[in-house]
Amino acid sequence: MSETILEVKNVTKTYPGVVALDNVSLEFRKGEVHALVGENGAGKSTIIKCIAGAIQADKGSILLEGQELVGKKLTENSSNGVEVVYQEFNLAPQLSVYENIFIGKPIRKGPGNAFVDKAAMIRETRELFTRLGMDIDPEARIDTLSVAYMQFVEIAKAISKKAKVLIMDEPTATLTNAEVEILMKNIRRMKAEGTTIIYVSHRMEEIFEITDRCSVLRDGKYIATVNTAETSREELIRYMVGRELVETFPSRDAEIGEVVLEVKGLYGNGVSNVNFELHKGEILGFGGLVGAGRTETAEMLFGAARVEKGDIILKGKKVTMHHPREAIRNGIALIPEDRKQHGLILDKSIMENMTLPVFKRLSTMQFLDKKKQIDLTNEQVEALRVKTPTIDQLAKNLSGGNQQKVVLGKWLIAESDIVIFDEPTRGIDVGAKQEIYKLMNQLVENGKAIIMISSEMPELLGMSDRLVVFSEKRQVGVLEKEELDQAVVLDMASGDK
Ligand SMILES: Nc1ncnc2c1ncn2[C@@H]1O[C@H](COP(=O)(O)OP(=O)(O)OP(=O)(O)O)[C@@H](O)[C@H]1O
Ligand SMILES: [Mg+2]
Repeated sequence: MSETILEVKNVTKTYPGVVALDNVSLEFRKGEVHALVGENGAGKSTIIKCIAGAIQADKGSILLEGQELVGKKLTENSSNGVEVVYQEFNLAPQLSVYENIFIGKPIRKGPGNAFVDKAAMIRETRELFTRLGMDIDPEARIDTLSVAYMQFVEIAKAISKKAKVLIMDEPTATLTNAEVEILMKNIRRMKAEGTTIIYVSHRMEEIFEITDRCSVLRDGKYIATVNTAETSREELIRYMVGRELVETFPSRDAEIGEVVLEVKGLYGNGVSNVNFELHKGEILGFGGLVGAGRTETAEMLFGAARVEKGDIILKGKKVTMHHPREAIRNGIALIPEDRKQHGLILDKSIMENMTLPVFKRLSTMQFLDKKKQIDLTNEQVEALRVKTPTIDQLAKNLSGGNQQKVVLGKWLIAESDIVIFDEPTRGIDVGAKQEIYKLMNQLVENGKAIIMISSEMPELLGMSDRLVVFSEKRQVGVLEKEELDQAVVLDMASGDK
């Protein structure tokens, strides 16, 4: 069990203005599940890319079973025994599931292997999914799948290559609970077969459930490696953030005022009969399982999906919104769940991204108030602790979690009266989570109203004033603050009562 399979030795990697990795050494054992943890921008994805050969380290060496890996660049066809499920998807969206699994190495048949054997590839893909316990159509086009299914195809593809070391960079960020369970089962099976698994996640529950050891990075530096069974959440968090941090929900002092939004008998976007009131100064939680209809409801409130029946009443006035533009004009903002696709322009800077919704407001005649633009951006970058050398950095050069923060900042600058947060802390590290909770508190203390969709039970219970529970595309109840209890919520959300 203690045999070393992979060694990272004194690896340094710098980008202009950023030391992404600073003389990092790590050691991974055969057949262990090894967590890599740290705050957003700590260097987790960078070390993974170095190990996989996707980028070259400036200094240092990486040894797999004693053999130097550096310089052997990975292609789709050749494997050095290390496979990676990246944080960003690497699938070809216009191709089918089986084509993606066999990309670069199709099964061939006929004289001189002249023909691609489509039937065999479909069959093998189906067998692979059955073995993994996943239910995905091998012939479906990738871009017709949900994000969770895309992630599963990525995972299946990596697993199918029978690597010695399998690295997963936040594999569960987009998975539903049931799918997380399937993944955990597969990880245990691979571990039993002697595969080494390097697992990056911000979800503490998973880390404690599945990993044997944890290594912590902070600001590109190696901090410590601990046995998971011998550590605690508190200790890990202390290593990650470099200070004491209690995982609690900051208290707020917001006055709950008049009704700002009333939803009456709302139908549409696949959802039935939604009824609730949102007050000034209130955080209204939307609870339920993934797929329960929460995002679909939010889309109607944001003018992004058509309302079939029912009323949306804003400050006493009935409104019909056909486009998000109208919602924004009405003072409603939606911070979407899928921020990479919907929230960010990767080739633009942090500042351009963050000030996009207020661009008009910043411009008088055709002159842009550059100073104001810079000030607003700096304010949010500080408040959210976005890790970047400058606000001119392109969004694509930020770490995954820091990209999320830029999208959050963008809507915070927009200053809407009603802000809908869809999974606000997904992919966000523990320290920054607290900053986001504090920001939400500030918003309601300043008289705004918030709808928060979340799949994290502690967050829902800790932050909501009241909670609307959804199940199977309809609303099943509204819970008052005193009634907020995990068991009650789960019972309602499961839909079988
Ligand atoms: N191509 C690049 N150009 C400039 N800076 C980069 C580039 N890639 C990464 N960085 C920087 O290197 C640092 C480490 O980033 P990395 O993606 O490894 O973080 P991470 O630990 O994976 O964070 P997260 O939890 O947010 O995914 C960050 O400050 C990031 O902005
Ligand atoms: Mg990352």
